[in-house]
Amino acid sequence: MARFSFLKLIRDQRSELPSIDELKKNLTGKTIIVVGANTGLGLEAARHFATMNPGRLILACRTAKTAEEAVQDIKTTTGCQTVEYWTLDLTSFASVSAFATRFEKEGGGKLDILVENAGIATNVYRATPDGYESSIQTNHLSTALLSLLLLPYLSKTPNSRVTIVTSEVHFFVSRLIEADSPKILDRLNEKEYSTSKVMAERYNVSKLLNVFYGRALAERLPAGTSISVDLVTPGICHSKISRNLHGSQKVVLGLLKFFLARTTEVGSRTLVHAALAGDQETMQGKYLNKCNVEEVSDYVISEEGRVVQDRLWDETVGILREKDGRVESVVRELLRSG
Ligand SMILES: NC(=O)c1ccc[n+]([C@@H]2O[C@H](COP(=O)([O-])OP(=O)(O)OC[C@H]3O[C@@H](n4cnc5c(N)ncnc54)[C@H](OP(=O)(O)O)[C@@H]3O)[C@@H](O)[C@H]2O)c1
Repeated sequence: MARFSFLKLIRDQRSELPSIDELKKNLTGKTIIVVGANTGLGLEAARHFATMNPGRLILACRTAKTAEEAVQDIKTTTGCQTVEYWTLDLTSFASVSAFATRFEKEGGGKLDILVENAGIATNVYRATPDGYESSIQTNHLSTALLSLLLLPYLSKTPNSRVTIVTSEVHFFVSRLIEADSPKILDRLNEKEYSTSKVMAERYNVSKLLNVFYGRALAERLPAGTSISVDLVTPGICHSKISRNLHGSQKVVLGLLKFFLARTTEVGSRTLVHAALAGDQETMQGKYLNKCNVEEVSDYVISEEGRVVQDRLWDETVGILREKDGRVESVVRELLRSG
């Protein structure tokens, strides 16, 4: 039984994480993409990768100015010259598609590590230009689209890895009530439904969707695949993640951070561990906390959770195949049915 408890959280936050020297691997010749690497955990994880002699380190960021600053910062602090940024805005499916097209042309044909770190926490409904609630598109739909469009390049590399950054807040969703509606994602995207009470849970729900998606993707990789997919929580860390939260949630998170947060650098080691440690056998579909495999929430592994996971997969792929025709062939050629 895996349950969230405040005592466990305190213990987890106080436990020591491995040093970066213990996590280090030689990344010579390898291509690594870190999504959302201009600040926060993504920036610090990218800085760590930069110390491992990466063949190519791509920071996938939405704002050119902060991305360029991150590149210069990493070059100065690590001496790594193989770091660059590519534009990617997860609030736009067209931007995700353009990123994948650029990778097709300029990526060198193979991808070793994809760290899907970018995310937002908001308790206010905002629609993206594509018409989706912003955290559902950013944290779930576009994250899924990117992983699917890059799967062909990951499949060309031995022991490649997709790491999806989720959170222990997925434990807070004891049941996804939107699953009572015929279409879960449509329900989550409804403006009228997404009242402030509903939006108060939205970040937790979006991180639960990460867990469902990562596990569903891992299960659909065929036997003999070179790809492993894992899920990681960095724990509570200092970063700008609460910038879009309002009211009491911002205050509560601020207090938790004040008393319990890891530094951004320490938290980023969990991403590095998730991206580099173990192999397919030990990491496939696994949820990682404090650089250890742990159980996901009881809901995720319940019978109902199983059904919801499959429904969400079908709905997600159904939406994404309309956004980019390549999704259809990736699912048909590189994945098996669930
Ligand atoms: N910090 C914590 O305590 C904590 C705990 C559990 C899980 N997490 C997870 O850790 C991940 C990283 O968060 P963080 O704490 O480092 O927060 P952060 O400092 O706010 O960084 C978030 C990153 O995501 C990027 N991003 C947001 N929206 C984007 C979009 N539409 N397109 C492309 N990039 C976008 C941001 O870019 P901009 O700067 O341009 O907005 C930034 O680089 C998130 O998935 C979060 O859910 C964090």
